[in-house]
Amino acid sequence: MVQSASTVLRMRITDTSDLWWKTAVVYCLDVETYLDWNGDGTGDFEGLSHRIDYLAELGITCLWLMPFYPTPNRDDGYDISDYYGVDPRLGHLGDFVEVVRTARDRGIRVIVDLVVNHTSDQHPWFKASRSSRDSAYRDWYVWRDEPPEHPEATAFPGEETSTWQFDEKTGQYYLHNFYHFQPDLNVTNPLVRDEVAKVMGFWLQLGVTGFRVDAVPFFLDTEGVEPGHGQLKNPLEYLKSLHAFLERRSGEAIMLGEVNLARSKQLSYFGGEDADGLTMQFDFIGMQNLFLSLARQDARPLAAALAKRPVLPQANQWANFVRNHDELTLDKLTPKQRDEVFAAFAPDADEQIYGRGIIRRLGPMLLGDPRRIRMVYSLLFSMPGTPVLFYGQEIGMGEDLARGDREAVRTPMQWTHDANGGFSDAPASKLAAPMVSGGYSPEHVNVASQRHDQDSLLHFIRRLVERYRASAEIGWGDFTLLDQPNNSVLAHTMSGDEGRMLAVHNFSAEPAVVTVALYAPDTRFVDLLRDGSVTTDTRGRLDLSLEGYGYRWLRQVGPNEKRLF
Ligand code: NOJ
Repeated sequence: MVQSASTVLRMRITDTSDLWWKTAVVYCLDVETYLDWNGDGTGDFEGLSHRIDYLAELGITCLWLMPFYPTPNRDDGYDISDYYGVDPRLGHLGDFVEVVRTARDRGIRVIVDLVVNHTSDQHPWFKASRSSRDSAYRDWYVWRDEPPEHPEATAFPGEETSTWQFDEKTGQYYLHNFYHFQPDLNVTNPLVRDEVAKVMGFWLQLGVTGFRVDAVPFFLDTEGVEPGHGQLKNPLEYLKSLHAFLERRSGEAIMLGEVNLARSKQLSYFGGEDADGLTMQFDFIGMQNLFLSLARQDARPLAAALAKRPVLPQANQWANFVRNHDELTLDKLTPKQRDEVFAAFAPDADEQIYGRGIIRRLGPMLLGDPRRIRMVYSLLFSMPGTPVLFYGQEIGMGEDLARGDREAVRTPMQWTHDANGGFSDAPASKLAAPMVSGGYSPEHVNVASQRHDQDSLLHFIRRLVERYRASAEIGWGDFTLLDQPNNSVLAHTMSGDEGRMLAVHNFSAEPAVVTVALYAPDTRFVDLLRDGSVTTDTRGRLDLSLEGYGYRWLRQVGPNEKRLF
């Protein structure tokens, strides 16, 4: 089993392909808004299958599909009414399998959202559960006569007021950590746990290579369950049993977990030394400090967040991201820090949500400044970990603030400058979501024109993907922050058995020359993103010049170096 702790791997080519997620490039999309093939206004699996070559061209190696299951669609598909199907608006299981198979042929693994903290209130299990206190499904959900004394706060302030909803028919409250139409499953019930495994087994059998696991801490939380309504002594043990199940069914499948908690808590979800919990977790804290650094033009918040990251067992990995499909949450910053980021990038109330997040995309936040945008993506691909892209980032798509909530960043993919951005032939009024208008509309931002422009963001991201894939030390190596006097600059190295690379990023608009000490005299470092190389002086120091918002990746050229540059 490749993930077992006893296997010590060395970052050789074969190791990197076994622990494939450590050097993967993950791309997240929603089928509903990617490409509409049948002209009904909604993206579909058939459309996606016609874009697998585009994704291969971009170089991504893992496709994360947001929920595509049958759903009333009141929370962008995160309200599921059947775990074993495909929403008919998007196609059917046959179309899904075609996508997985085509992707695999192009070297792309598919992972799917596993949303088992809750179902839709339209799921037959919940309908049965709420029908009577004697229903066989009653204990599949969390019911109480009264909410607990100190209930958890709602995840969606302003949209929900409580996490407990009174149900008239049977006179009890049910738990819903998210919307009231998303009742929480009762994970202490062994029948629920069996079903979760069955759902995972089903999609694995259809070819997926794992799961992005939604809302993990909520899923495992058993606080609200009244005594006598289930038993599960240690929820983390349950997570480990899911890991073991996954390993039994597939030697290469992963769980990429959504755990927005303090780092110390995140550690336990990785499972400890044996790496027998979640395989990967998003680094929410790194992401939030990246934005604080951008706001201050000061690399230190990000540097500190990276330095404080716990070192993980070999099989585990951090997933880096600068945007996802939700609000850009700043909940782990202090109120003062949060206000700094709001002031810099989302000063207007209609750009913020829940008092903690931003509903804009990166380009507009950075006023479309290509130098700054590229610097951020250069960071995304050179920070220790695995980069995760949200569709449309590769071309610099903007948002639709008029949507007023998280939907703002879930607009259709912009393929061409034609009507509906080439997303669909349907009348605009029939689209699953309106196209972005204004300066970021398809007329100005689209795949087709950027594919033909070598200087485009799309080509730049392709180059980053290529260099990242050829630099396994970024995903595998040891991270070291380099001491240098300029607070606006982040300088770090990643080193492993295959070599060492150095990255420098300038958060300020002012050019900078930084001197870094590498303790390797007369050693050559080759630029990976442009022509050129530099050599350390006799004391092992390098002087590196950076433009405003500049960035450089350099690879140490070892004796008998055989890697291509
Ligand atoms: C987390 C998802 O990322 C978010 O979009 C969703 O609303 C909640 N989980 C509830 O499923």
